[in-house]
Amino acid sequence: MIILAFETSCDETAAAILQKGKYEPFVRIKSTNVASSLPLHAKTGGIIPEVAARKQIEYILPIVEKTIKDANIAIVDIDAIAVTIGPGLIGSLLVGVETAKTLSYIWDKPLIPVNHLFGHIYANFIQQDSSLAFIEFPAIGLVVSGGHTDIVVMYNHKKIQWLGGTRDDAAGEAFDKIGRLLGMPYPAGPLIEKQAEKGDPKAIIFPRPLISSPDFDFSFSGLKTAALRTIEREKSLSQKQIADISYAVQQAIVDVITAKTLRAAEKYNAKSILIGGGVAANKALCVNFKKAASKKGFQKVFVPHKNLCTDNAAMIGAAAFFQYQKHSWEDIQAKPELYFQL
Ligand code: KG4
Ligand code: ZN
Repeated sequence: MIILAFETSCDETAAAILQKGKYEPFVRIKSTNVASSLPLHAKTGGIIPEVAARKQIEYILPIVEKTIKDANIAIVDIDAIAVTIGPGLIGSLLVGVETAKTLSYIWDKPLIPVNHLFGHIYANFIQQDSSLAFIEFPAIGLVVSGGHTDIVVMYNHKKIQWLGGTRDDAAGEAFDKIGRLLGMPYPAGPLIEKQAEKGDPKAIIFPRPLISSPDFDFSFSGLKTAALRTIEREKSLSQKQIADISYAVQQAIVDVITAKTLRAAEKYNAKSILIGGGVAANKALCVNFKKAASKKGFQKVFVPHKNLCTDNAAMIGAAAFFQYQKHSWEDIQAKPELYFQL
């Protein structure tokens, strides 16, 4: 089966062609393309929804054409179209949803609506190398992105239960906001990671909010305030101070995410842990997490390739294979407020 997938929930315009055999456990990418309007947003320190949507209108059709060409297939080979319906920016979502609906109608292909948050978890079902271990259920899913920090338990592909999430800022948002205080452009996550490599682990220790609470909730706004206080005490920041603050912020976020997710894995006897979302591209998070997981006996920790952690259409196609629910194009609508629900 071959799926053409779209992702336009934030500033990216992405399309991908995926293939999966009926009994195959993993999805294969035939082609994937992501066009970003990020350079336009670096100047403004964040995404301006109107600017993002206008660029997406420009990019979407050329990207569809290129993606089909790259996959070396014909339109008749496509069995279904998948599209992110939410959560996300309404103007951006509409570009993907309306394009997918139009193509579904004129090409006469079924349409599969996909929740963006599930997409981040299903990026782990994309084949990355031949030595991949099988994902077993129950699994704990963790989404750490610019807009979300959520933990779910997956009993199977059809039964996924939300356990907790952030009460204020998401993990990626904390990276971006603190980065801004440090004078970094948007998105600051990768820049903080780079600075943190030079940081002194003992120089500054920031609080680990909610790390010991019995729930699976997160709160990162206090961390932002703690970083702000530290920054305000200085007239100007030296390179060393920027590196030390970056290390302290990253480590606080990594520690909280790791502790809470492993607690969920223990409580639900998880056989696999699936991490996804832009912040999962952070190497310190992956290394720390895998080490801590292994100590507690969890060997099956899956993290997608860096390019599949940040927003892309391949993950949307991957989710569509496992949650295949055919719809007619008339029934599909953009849902900016969509949450963790099937
Ligand atoms: O998943 P994503 O591409 O978009 C959303 O769905 O939000 O995530 C983007 C977020 C941004 O906040 C960005 O700063 C963060 O992921 N991010 C990182 C890294 N790469 C991206 N955060 C920390 N370390 C990274 N290497
Ligand atoms: Zn995302």
